[in-house]
Amino acid sequence: MERTLIIIKPDAVQRGFVGEIIGRFERKGLKIVGLKMLPLNDALLSEHYSHLKDKPFFDSLKRFMKSTPVIILCVEGVEVVDTVRLLCGITKARSADVGSIRGDLAMSQSCNVIHASDTVENAKNEIQRFFEKDELFDYDKTEYLHVYAEDER
Ligand code: PPS
Repeated sequence: MERTLIIIKPDAVQRGFVGEIIGRFERKGLKIVGLKMLPLNDALLSEHYSHLKDKPFFDSLKRFMKSTPVIILCVEGVEVVDTVRLLCGITKARSADVGSIRGDLAMSQSCNVIHASDTVENAKNEIQRFFEKDELFDYDKTEYLHVYAEDER
């Protein structure tokens, strides 16, 4: 099964949405295989956002991401990278679909409550960036019997 990396951003931590956001992934049937809180530093953010280094908002995005410790999650499921991106909604939160996490909880392009890996390859890199091997867990989730059909498990 696929895994993806999720960051619950400083605005969501400040606004008390951690439980709400994690709950949405749990309700969908995704398996949490890693979870922790940590403050992000400049070196980690410069690596994580290296594809944005020439954008005018690069420094302010990093300042924002350093402003409050964040929650980092690794979740597992069938085609979970795309599923999580659908649950999140588009980057510009004020235009995101109602019913999506950003569509329901945010207004901004930067303070948009959540980051999620956009491709399977980026997910692998981001999981390695934020988790040590012994911080990720393999276990059976009994509800999979009811979340997936036999040929999907
Ligand atoms: S995405 O969802 O990653 O594909 O979106 P993308 O448009 O590539 O944006 C990448 C991250 O940059 C943040 N962003 C901005 N921050 C500040 N100001 C502006 N204008 C802006 N536009 C995009 C956006 O929140 C994305 O952060 P992450 O952490 O990747 O979600």
